[in-house]
Amino acid sequence: MIQKKKPEGVSVGREGQMNRTGIGASPKHGKQMVEAAVADVAAPQDGKKATTMRRFYLEESDAVGTMPPPTSVKGAAKTVKEALTGNKATVLIDKVAERLAFERTGTRLYEAILTKHEVLGSFDGGPSAEDLEHIRDEELEHFIMLKKTLEELGADPTVMTPSADLAGVEGMGLGQVLGDPRTTLAQGLHALMIAEVADKVGWEHLIALAQDLGQTQLVERFRKADKQEQEHVQRVSRWLSAYTSATARMV
Ligand SMILES: [Fe+2]
Ligand SMILES: [Fe+2]
Repeated sequence: MIQKKKPEGVSVGREGQMNRTGIGASPKHGKQMVEAAVADVAAPQDGKKATTMRRFYLEESDAVGTMPPPTSVKGAAKTVKEALTGNKATVLIDKVAERLAFERTGTRLYEAILTKHEVLGSFDGGPSAEDLEHIRDEELEHFIMLKKTLEELGADPTVMTPSADLAGVEGMGLGQVLGDPRTTLAQGLHALMIAEVADKVGWEHLIALAQDLGQTQLVERFRKADKQEQEHVQRVSRWLSAYTSATARMV
């Protein structure tokens, strides 16, 4: 950490640890590193071996996940305006399952940051525990709403569809940041910012799909969640900005 003095209420993480990542920290080893790179020992400079290996795996690998057998979406008349079949049903179920996976991750990320908040405290202009609980509860509400939607569409909400699988893997890095005991509240919020921006765009795409398929009841339902996601992005962004400004003012 670059800070020398910790202003009241600002969480700056661990202090007094020497950063040894740059090669300037050890000129002797830095020289050896450069020599190894030039000698093509550490990694081939042209990247051909890596490309060949990637090509091999791309040609040999299966897809990420599969969809369950084609579903005829009958659903509850109130929810589904017209019955969907074939690809339309498959795509809609896959994308709803994607959001379900993402909202599950979102709920867990906020659970994790609440623990950081409890142990490390907040900072000037940062979130209160109630602020974080409020968003956590909305992510959980979205998860429950999506589960209900899948059931109404005649789908199994526990199925791991290709897009749900992808969303789960993408969220793993964010989970690692939040789960790392060394990261600060602000660093956790930074990871949440990535989640919230992706979340917002994900809802926009789902609404557009439901519109294309003429599912007006679902559009209405999804728009409510999208409005809340807009607020999540704005609030997390504001907290992060307050932290950066407070850190820059430190003397
Ligand atoms: Fe969300
Ligand atoms: Fe959110």
